[in-house]
Amino acid sequence: MKIDIKINEVNDKFNQEISIVNSIEDLEKIKNKYLSRKGLVASLFSELANLDSAERPKFGNILNDLKLKITNVISAKVSTITSSEKQNNNSLDVTLPGKITNTGCVHPLTKVISQIESIFTKIGFSIAYGPEVDSDFFNFEALNIPKHHPARDMQDTFYLNDGHVLRTHTSNSQIHFMLNNKPPIRIIAPGRVYRNEDVSVRSYCLFHQIEGLYVDENVTFSDLKSVLNYFARELFGNDVKTRFRPSYFPFTEPSAEMDVYWGLESESDKRITKGTGWLEILGCGMVDPKVFNNVDYDASKLTGYAFGVGIERIAMLLYGIEDIREFYKGDIRFTGQFK
Ligand code: DAH
Repeated sequence: MKIDIKINEVNDKFNQEISIVNSIEDLEKIKNKYLSRKGLVASLFSELANLDSAERPKFGNILNDLKLKITNVISAKVSTITSSEKQNNNSLDVTLPGKITNTGCVHPLTKVISQIESIFTKIGFSIAYGPEVDSDFFNFEALNIPKHHPARDMQDTFYLNDGHVLRTHTSNSQIHFMLNNKPPIRIIAPGRVYRNEDVSVRSYCLFHQIEGLYVDENVTFSDLKSVLNYFARELFGNDVKTRFRPSYFPFTEPSAEMDVYWGLESESDKRITKGTGWLEILGCGMVDPKVFNNVDYDASKLTGYAFGVGIERIAMLLYGIEDIREFYKGDIRFTGQFK
């Protein structure tokens, strides 16, 4: 084959290979293939010796041009590949503004629930759960709230078509737990409850409670008071003042409500405490022996106490939230404030 055809072939091959290369490693291979001491260009040079001496200078020049062209094209390609690799690597530019990463946070109600859970688990309570859709037996009957009992009016119930109810309180968890476990019992049971009430700043069709239940021999009302006072101190601080007021619940006897002293300094203190300075935070009492009978516990041996805390109310007090509906809107500008 004549040398000019070979030169054209090498030139065409190079043009084709360089056009598709896109990494420095492949570029190195091409450089080796064409420009190394035993490369394609060098072997063309060695063929000059076979030419007539008259032809040698002409093809010598052509080959020098080819070598120069290949060298230049390769070095131009090196710089385009390295600069585009740099961009892809996102190489650090310290002058750019930082990236904002939004960290999530727990919902304020979840936060209060875990805070209360840790207060009680520290002193030996464990956590249990009851169902949100339940039968009349667990939500009412076994808790000593028979049909037509006026106490059913205290809790406007959502009834389902199949006769089940959306639980109106977490007290149903007491019955589930006692039927499935033997005493002694020391549990808290957090969860959602539902009531068919008019929606307002103070009430919503669903809210959250934490139920407490302690059952053993010789449990007294003073045990109940000391545990709830400990709870109030942990939640509101050591100098919190509490008081117990007699109350009525069908499943406890005697029953009480616990208030904490909130103060009467500001207009909002007066408003939320209705001018008394005191705020009710929970209902409680000694488990009524009829409830023990309903779960086949020996009411002549056992005593126990129970309590129920409204979570939204506590969260509203702790964080100064005025409208209960804020909790359920899912607006992260609101929920994001409680990190
Ligand atoms: N279940 C009651 C309610 O929703 C709250 C309550 C009161 C729970 C006294 C108790 C209790 O366990 O002892 O209004």
